[in-house]
Amino acid sequence: MKYLLLSTLVMLSYQWWDVGHMMTAQIAKNHLRENRPDVLAWADSLIQDLNPLTDGKSNTFAEAAVWLDDIKETGTNFMNDWHYTNRPMNPDGLQIKIEDQARNINSIYAINSATSVLTSTKTAKFRHTVFKAEMIRVLLHVIGDLHQPLHDTAFWNVTYPNGDQGGNLMKLQIENGTFVNLHSFWDAGAFAFVSNSTFLSRPLSQKDQEYLDNWAKNLIRSYPYSNYKDYDMTNPSVWTYVGYRQALQFVYPMIQSSNNFNNNYVEQAKQFCESNIAVGGYRLANKLIEIFDIILLNESMVKFDQ
Ligand SMILES: *[C@@H]1O[C@H](CO)[C@@H](O)[C@H](O)[C@H]1NC(C)=O
Ligand SMILES: *[C@@H]1O[C@H](CO)[C@@H](O)[C@H](O)[C@H]1NC(C)=O
Ligand SMILES: *[C@@H]1O[C@H](CO)[C@@H](O)[C@H](O)[C@H]1NC(C)=O
Ligand SMILES: *[C@@H]1O[C@H](CO)[C@@H](O)[C@H](O)[C@H]1NC(C)=O
Repeated sequence: MKYLLLSTLVMLSYQWWDVGHMMTAQIAKNHLRENRPDVLAWADSLIQDLNPLTDGKSNTFAEAAVWLDDIKETGTNFMNDWHYTNRPMNPDGLQIKIEDQARNINSIYAINSATSVLTSTKTAKFRHTVFKAEMIRVLLHVIGDLHQPLHDTAFWNVTYPNGDQGGNLMKLQIENGTFVNLHSFWDAGAFAFVSNSTFLSRPLSQKDQEYLDNWAKNLIRSYPYSNYKDYDMTNPSVWTYVGYRQALQFVYPMIQSSNNFNNNYVEQAKQFCESNIAVGGYRLANKLIEIFDIILLNESMVKFDQ
């Protein structure tokens, strides 16, 4: 089945904020460190190849997960549609306008494109290139994004005739009475994942890096990999579909019934985001393992041929 996908003309904050991205990457890093240090060493060195060309705020594995947002500030807009897959939620069956994402330029496309560059046999197997160094950073970012359900859908009805831009046009009233953007609320893990000038702001201090590492260790203990052994770990289309279902079944219904602060919603949202970050980290790790093993396999086949 082919989904109708839609992009927005107005790019609002389509980003799982820095902290959620860094946490997802840190989970992947810790998982690889325990299970496939060879893959981590390869990924880390490829990521760092780009460091001289960035602004010094994305030099580590975790920080590099934010690079795809950083480049927007340099006017690099052509990858904006890579951050999400807007499967429409259109309960009233309205006629809706289909824009760029109808061409399937979305987060699934981003992950598959990056994978194809990284496994290309046109360059020597483990030779680093600029595009490989960029595409591994795309994977770090986009696999994080799509585990935020509002990066997997947008909602239409008569009130939102052009869609709600993944919750960007919806408001949620939180505990202190302020109205916040629904998308931002979820990007910030129900405000459980926020940085400030002294905490988890990039470039990360040694203390911040230790904090992230310990946070990831704890999360891996609470949400161990073995819990997800039946989950798909390779197919981004499956992953974004699950995100769409989560938005349909949890993110929007809660807001529609109350449309204001609800302690239960916030608590559930926090747990929900933690579990999604764990799964996102494991999937990122597995995608890197899959890529590395394809490169290795091709390497051994070439040797065999010679
Ligand atoms: C309400 O809480 C949000 C999220 O923690 C915060 O960003 C905002 O500044 C707070 N507003 C007031 C008026 O305290
Ligand atoms: C920054 O966040 C940390 C952790 O939530 C908090 O302990 C600290 O007081 C905050 N600092 C500022 C300047 O807001
Ligand atoms: C559209 O959906 C929003 C969010 O659930 C709701 O607040 C609004 O009333 C709906 N509009 C119509 C016309 O049903
Ligand atoms: C590289 O490995 C992949 C996965 O096994 C395979 O599909 C592809 O054909 C291989 N390419 C070459 C040139 O051996």
